[in-house]
Amino acid sequence: PTRKKIGLIGAGNIGGELARLVANKELGDVVLFDIASKENFAKGKALDLEQNGSVLGYDASIRGTSNWDDLQGADVLIITAGVPRKPGQSRDDLVATNLPIIRDVASNAKRVCPDAFVIVISNPLDAMVYEYKRVVGAPKEKVVGMAGVLDSARMQLFLAREAGVSVKDVRTTVLGGHGDDMVPVLGYCTINGIPVGQVIAKEKLDAIVERTRKGGGEIVGLMGTSAYYAPATSAVAMAEAYLLDQKRLLPSAVYLDGEYGYKDIFMGVPVVIGGKGVEKIVQIDLTDDEKTMLAKSAKSVQSVIDVVKKSA
Ligand code: APR
Repeated sequence: PTRKKIGLIGAGNIGGELARLVANKELGDVVLFDIASKENFAKGKALDLEQNGSVLGYDASIRGTSNWDDLQGADVLIITAGVPRKPGQSRDDLVATNLPIIRDVASNAKRVCPDAFVIVISNPLDAMVYEYKRVVGAPKEKVVGMAGVLDSARMQLFLAREAGVSVKDVRTTVLGGHGDDMVPVLGYCTINGIPVGQVIAKEKLDAIVERTRKGGGEIVGLMGTSAYYAPATSAVAMAEAYLLDQKRLLPSAVYLDGEYGYKDIFMGVPVVIGGKGVEKIVQIDLTDDEKTMLAKSAKSVQSVIDVVKKSA
């Protein structure tokens, strides 16, 4: 049997970290793609990462390219093509720049690997993944956006530090769009099954919810560009769930067709990812407050999708 082929579209900060993780876990061979003017950059990064394998002992091949033909038949695509945020920018501010980029990526992917399981990371996430699916015409099971795993990971860290417990014991769920009005659902946040409300005071929880919502911006403010380690790890968890048929329940941006009362929109909800892609959308009970917050988040996502649709 041959190894799986993992295409990484964008060889920048997240793309490089994705390649490192995929190779290290030996999930498959990596094709690290970037535009023609950055072809040598992609090739150099790929070579550095292959040499890394001589020390760590992985045999995955990692190839840099700017030729879409090298992505022929890819099993998984993880897309980070586009520009990241600068301090003061919202994710939505990136739409004009990143829209032509996602269209370029989607039209090429449609030609060379239409059956791939696709994870989009480029922002504004929910609109970019919506446009990718529209251009490729891919089934909704095969196209997801990475946001919820990252937003939940951020919240887990903040809760673990506040409670003085291991991050391993904290589980959280963050729903909605990948923007500042995302919906952390506190009722489902637990420390090994114990609701966080029994361990952490309400004011502290409110502050953690707020910090989670602005978690991406906090890092952009500090670094001058957006985060890349945790985003890459989050996307690889999703790719691994697909490649190894793990059937993990992960909050992911998926195409909603009536679930939670929303239609023709991508938004973060809990889903099961396995060998068939998105195998199930799990509908959880929400409080009236959470429903209102989800509606607000959906409205912001819809307004960006409308911009995208108008220019189609
Ligand atoms: N096809 C392929 N790659 C492209 C294209 C394209 N049409 N246009 C741009 N790129 C490449 C850039 O050349 C760059 O190398 O995408 C790469 C992006 O890398 P970085 O600038 O380092 O950005 P990164 O931090 O990886 O973030 C990428 O993910 O989280 C989001 O908001 C973030 O939208 C941004 C994306």
